[in-house]
Amino acid sequence: MALVPMRILLDAAKKGTYAVGAFNVNNMEQIQAIMAAAREMKSPVIIQASRGALKYSNLIYLKHLMLAAVEENPDIPVAMHLDHGNSLDTVKMAIGLGFTSVMIDGSLKEDSKTPTTFEENLDITRRVIDYARPLGVTVEAELGTLGGIEDGVGSGTVNLTDPDQAEEFVAKTNVDALAVAIGTSHGAYKFKEEPKLALGLVKEINRRLPDTALVMHGSSSVPQELVDIVNRYGGRMPNARGVPMTAIRSVIPWGVRKVNVDTDGRIAITGAIRKVFAESPEKFDPRDYLKPARDALAALVAGKMRELGAAGHAGEIEQKSLEDMKAFYRDRGLV
Ligand code: G3H
Ligand code: 13P
Ligand code: ZN
Repeated sequence: MALVPMRILLDAAKKGTYAVGAFNVNNMEQIQAIMAAAREMKSPVIIQASRGALKYSNLIYLKHLMLAAVEENPDIPVAMHLDHGNSLDTVKMAIGLGFTSVMIDGSLKEDSKTPTTFEENLDITRRVIDYARPLGVTVEAELGTLGGIEDGVGSGTVNLTDPDQAEEFVAKTNVDALAVAIGTSHGAYKFKEEPKLALGLVKEINRRLPDTALVMHGSSSVPQELVDIVNRYGGRMPNARGVPMTAIRSVIPWGVRKVNVDTDGRIAITGAIRKVFAESPEKFDPRDYLKPARDALAALVAGKMRELGAAGHAGEIEQKSLEDMKAFYRDRGLV
């Protein structure tokens, strides 16, 4: 049984000082590509689905595709994670589907746009913990809002994670993982010019919260060679810019245990499909372009697993169940 609570992966990553890649999925080819990379790299992996992904796949398809990935790969520890859950109802739905981990993004209101107050974030996060923890399910929360240091977000003001607030938030919620805002943002256009990140903030938060797994969202590097393929074959992605892998690697010693990547996979897939369309316009069998797309994503993900240091660690993970986690939290007085 390779389906594990995400907490197990985070704790193992802390022990080995590496980060686990969390890759967003919407369909079969993405899931197959990520699992092929995990097999090749012997890496633990987090497969995550956003609300948009669950809607796109009509929930049940994604659930069974994830379970198929687990069944096909008994030697690879996999956590099934809800990305950016916006409400207790969404969290309940994901847990009902069999997810072993959920994110409640209480940094934003239910509309996933409007920033919340610290108290509102605390309130929804606590309600999610109260629901998920007795079930053994891992909980990730977010403090501070994503968005470029230059651009600001939501209200127009920059909202990097405040270390004092992080300390108070974790003391009051005991979340398993905390997503921190250090100037990254989702998507392919993260910076107007050179990347500007508050990496020192991670060090300070980790100094105060050494036992909390930190999560980096918006961690796609937007590799120029992949953007070039998209543009060469008719795409238009001018000035796309991401987070350099060197920056991500630099914060792994400071407690970053989960690194979220979606955009890079989208670019790899799109480039591969565009290439087939441009070079072989006579082709109309979807396998002719979905297979190269799947291969391109697998190569990208394998590279990430190696760079994050997770490669080779699959065999070390204890195969704990949600039942085991219930006892884990009970023994620590966390339920
Ligand atoms: O959090 C952002 C992820 O890239 C998911 O994106 O909401 O378009 O599925 P999505
Ligand atoms: P990217 O858009 O940088 O891939 O970030 C994905 C993410 O943070 C998903 O939660
Ligand atoms: Zn995110």
